[in-house]
Amino acid sequence: MTYKTRKAALLKTSGITLGLVLSLVAANSWAGLSSLRGEASIESGSNAPDVKREHADSPPIERNYFQQPPLIPHRIREYQITLRNNKCLSCHSWKTYKKAKATKISQTHFDDRDGNAQTSLAARRYFCTQCHVPQVDAPPLVGNAFLPVEELSK
Ligand code: HEC
Ligand code: HEC
Repeated sequence: MTYKTRKAALLKTSGITLGLVLSLVAANSWAGLSSLRGEASIESGSNAPDVKREHADSPPIERNYFQQPPLIPHRIREYQITLRNNKCLSCHSWKTYKKAKATKISQTHFDDRDGNAQTSLAARRYFCTQCHVPQVDAPPLVGNAFLPVEELSK
C-alpha cells in the first residue's frame, strides 16, 4: 500500500468506528431522558420552554465545596458583559464593592494563567457568567448525588 492509500483506508476505518460508537451512544446512554425540547422529534416543531424567573435578590448562597464559584444570589438579566463594559464590575470590583455593599472579587481573579498576579482583572476571569450562575426554580434534568469531600469522611 502506498502512503496515500494507507491513509485513506485508515481514515475510512476510523470514520466507521466513530459512527458505530456514536450510534451506540445514541441508542443506549440517554434512553428515557427527555431534553428541554420535550419528546418532539427532530423534524417536528416544539413549544419554546417557559422563560424561568430568576430568584429575587437574596443573601449569599452557601457553597457546596471548597473552590466552588459562588452562585449568584440576585437577578442579572440586565447586567451585560461586553467587550468594553462589564456591568458586574460596577459593584464587585475592588473600587466599587464597598459602595455597592457587594462581595469583592477575590485575589485569584487577578492571577493570569501562569499564576502571576496582575494589577487588574485577569482576562480569563472577565466573563463572570462562565463560572458564576444565577438561580431559577428548575427541576434538574438529571439527578446527582454529589457530596463534598468532608461529607464522605464523616
Ligand atoms: C448593582 C450591583 C451589582 C451588580 C451589577 C452585580 N452584583 Fe453580584 N452581588 C451584589 C450584591 C449586593 C451581592 C450580595 C452581597 C451580600 O449580600 O453579601 C452580590 C452577590 C454576588 C455573588 C455571591 C458572592 C458570594 O460570596 O456568595 C456573586 C457570585 C455575584 N454577585 C456575581 C455577580 C455577577 C457575575 C454579576 C454580573 C453578571 C453581578 N454579580 C452583578 C451586587 C451586584
Ligand atoms: C474561571 C472561572 C471564574 C470566572 C470567569 C470568574 N470567577 Fe469569580 N470565582 C470563581 C471561583 C472558583 C471562586 C471561589 C474561589 C476564589 O475565590 O477564587 C470565585 C469567587 C468569586 C467571588 C467571591 C469572593 C470571595 O471573597 O468570597 C465573587 C464576588 C466573584 N467570584 C465574582 C466574580 C465576577 C464579578 C467575575 C467577572 C468579573 C468573576 N467572578 C469571574 C471563579 C470565576
